[in-house]
Amino acid sequence: MEALRESPHVLDWANMPDPFRHYEGVPVLDLPADPPSPETPALDVLQGFSGATGVHDGPTFLSQLLFYSASISASKLVPSTGYRYALRVNPSSGNLHPTEFHFFTRGLKDWPDGLYHYRPSSHMAEQRALGIEMDLDGSPAPITFVLTSIAWREAWKYRDRAYRYCLHDIGHAWQALALGARAIGCDAFAAGQFPDDEVAQFCRFHEDEWPMLIVELRGESIPLIEPNPVREPDPGKIVWYGGEANRLSKESIPYGSIEEIHEATKLRRAEGHVTVAEPGAGKTKPPRPTSFPRPFGEVVRLRRSALDFQGGAKSISLTQFWSLLAAANQPLMADFANARFIQLYLYVHRVSGLQPGVYRFSLDDARLENVKSGDQRVAAAGLSLGQDLAGNACVAFSMIGDFNRATRVHGDRGYRYVHFEAGAIGHRLYLAAEALGLGATGIGAFYDEEVHRYLNLTPEQGRVVYHFAVGYPVPDYRVKA
Ligand SMILES: Cc1cc2nc3c(=O)[nH]c(=O)nc-3n(C[C@H](O)[C@H](O)[C@H](O)COP(=O)(O)O)c2cc1C
Repeated sequence: MEALRESPHVLDWANMPDPFRHYEGVPVLDLPADPPSPETPALDVLQGFSGATGVHDGPTFLSQLLFYSASISASKLVPSTGYRYALRVNPSSGNLHPTEFHFFTRGLKDWPDGLYHYRPSSHMAEQRALGIEMDLDGSPAPITFVLTSIAWREAWKYRDRAYRYCLHDIGHAWQALALGARAIGCDAFAAGQFPDDEVAQFCRFHEDEWPMLIVELRGESIPLIEPNPVREPDPGKIVWYGGEANRLSKESIPYGSIEEIHEATKLRRAEGHVTVAEPGAGKTKPPRPTSFPRPFGEVVRLRRSALDFQGGAKSISLTQFWSLLAAANQPLMADFANARFIQLYLYVHRVSGLQPGVYRFSLDDARLENVKSGDQRVAAAGLSLGQDLAGNACVAFSMIGDFNRATRVHGDRGYRYVHFEAGAIGHRLYLAAEALGLGATGIGAFYDEEVHRYLNLTPEQGRVVYHFAVGYPVPDYRVKA
């Protein structure tokens, strides 16, 4: 971050990449408007409890899933120009949205099997191929998402640092999808181990889109033509429309370091395989009462990043504090998530019953340990590139990634997984904060080396990956839901 700060970058607004990708010239299918809102309390969904859906057809099911995981949910006014821009259910660094949602369907009621690209600008599905299915492990799921990143969208603003933000954003999108799925009664299992180039070719992505994560959805709530269809795919029946990917900028500037790290973290065919979903996780738990019953659908649609937080004396309660940590601490369903790589350092400013200070929270054993005492507001804001919101929050976070452990387990690919995990935790914190009547903001801008020094971290203990802040948000009158 220091390097970026020292060489100021003037944004070329005329060349800003379009935040919406379209594959033009393909059939575009309507997703029914106003799908029912998932009513299960968001905190219960975050704790692993499954919701239900009253939906019995494929189009409405897909509409419900995407409306509560990837769609536009508000707009924001630029007061100086009167221009309004879209905000989505999933957050994104700089609101640049490098992530695209593609999905394969198989056997859904009233919905043709094929490959689709989600078009958030009009809540529709672009039909890129018919009769094709993703079968990397011999057991294709009824719905399989392939999340891609368009790094140029981020690099336009953040240059070399952009790759990290793309990975965080994938972590957010993954959890947006996984929690949206759980809220309507199905399970999501993410696969990071796949051969990148083969998947990209198979899906005929435009060359600027890089597959990053595959997410399989299974569960009894998915409306199928017949349960457990067993049939061989017929390659003769595949119809490709493909579509022409829209151009995002008049010029896109390559960043060598981004290409290099992406290449270094790729898997080839022999190394990459997709693991089948663990059946039933989270499905069998009965609903349980909660003192914060805000429904999932409402929480997701109203989630926003706080512009800043109200400072002053108002604290969050210990119950709110532990609910945040409990949401962060849930198991993640992925082929890279058996071992956890993130440790949380908390800058506690105003939590009833806790002395201000820095605390370490280990996701492995849910233990909170005080490592520094005293007021941390100036330090937290300073470390977050001088952003006041990290000091005005009630609690701010440094997520510290154990890259040594990740690369020991997964080789260079582990670099991606550490960031996915951080983004996933961030997303869970966003929704938990909203459910608890608070606000949150992900913070990708921080002084890496200063954070390591302040927290006395040796490289073996980890490197900072992501910052986060939770508190009482100041109202933002530019946002219209
Ligand atoms: C990975 C990541 C990094 C972010 N970094 C910052 C940041 O440093 N400062 C900030 O004010 N907001 C930050 N944000 C919040 C985004 O600006 C916000 O998500 C975006 O403007 C869209 O607004 P929304 O979250 O209300 O949909 C970050 C978000 C993400 C996901």
